[in-house]
Amino acid sequence: MGDYTNMSAYYDVIMTSGYYDYEKIVQSILSDGEFTNVLEIGCGTGLILEELAKQRPKASITGMDLTEAMLDIARKRLQSFPNVSLTQQNIMQFKLEQQYQLAFSYGGVWYFVIDGDKEPVMISHLPDDADNHQGFAQLGKHVSAGGTLLLGVQGPHFDYERVISNGMKYSQKILAGEDGFTKHYYLADEAKTVMAQTIKYRTYSFADARKLMTTYGFEYNPDADFDKRFLGFTKQ
Ligand SMILES: C[S@@+](CC[C@H](N)C(=O)[O-])C[C@H]1O[C@@H](n2cnc3c(N)ncnc32)[C@H](O)[C@@H]1O
Repeated sequence: MGDYTNMSAYYDVIMTSGYYDYEKIVQSILSDGEFTNVLEIGCGTGLILEELAKQRPKASITGMDLTEAMLDIARKRLQSFPNVSLTQQNIMQFKLEQQYQLAFSYGGVWYFVIDGDKEPVMISHLPDDADNHQGFAQLGKHVSAGGTLLLGVQGPHFDYERVISNGMKYSQKILAGEDGFTKHYYLADEAKTVMAQTIKYRTYSFADARKLMTTYGFEYNPDADFDKRFLGFTKQ
């Protein structure tokens, strides 16, 4: 179901050791044009929101996430930004008072993997199909007609290990399953494992992802692809 509690204390150091390029991610989001409000689904520790808040101090910015321990870090990071609000919710049931012109997820609840010339594959933190329907149904209620949903694009997952900026060794292992895969994340300080987390992901072909999303009003919009860091969907 996408709980990141185990990883939370080490999330920032792993991600900022080259896992994601936050500066470029934020540039891509901003190139969507002007917006007065924006929602990040699966905002984690708020690394993207902090940069967005600095660059769009007048926009109303909301971050939602399932994992309280990730949000605790985000709250500290974002406490000096009055235009940011954070909410602990599961996408499947989430409710907010407003509709958004722009919603996005980068590695959050949903994202895409593009492997060379192959069609994009959608990856979901929700392993059950019915839960994905529920999640998109809820999201659909929160994006205004004509609004945009951006889902981040990443390269293919593979097994590797490497030393990160604090000297610890990060490793990940992917195991294929029937409707997706399981990813094991580890962090080791010399011989001692300081973090272990396992997440089960569901995968959708591009055609199935589009069909699922169309049901809830999100139509793929190739014009919103920008620099290929996100795929864009327009809310009907
Ligand atoms: C890889 S992190 C990405 C965080 C952030 N977007 C970033 O770029 O650093 C994935 C986040 O999605 C959240 N998440 C997973 N399943 C969720 C769900 N069902 N509802 C809300 N958030 C969820 C996790 O708690 C986690 O913080």
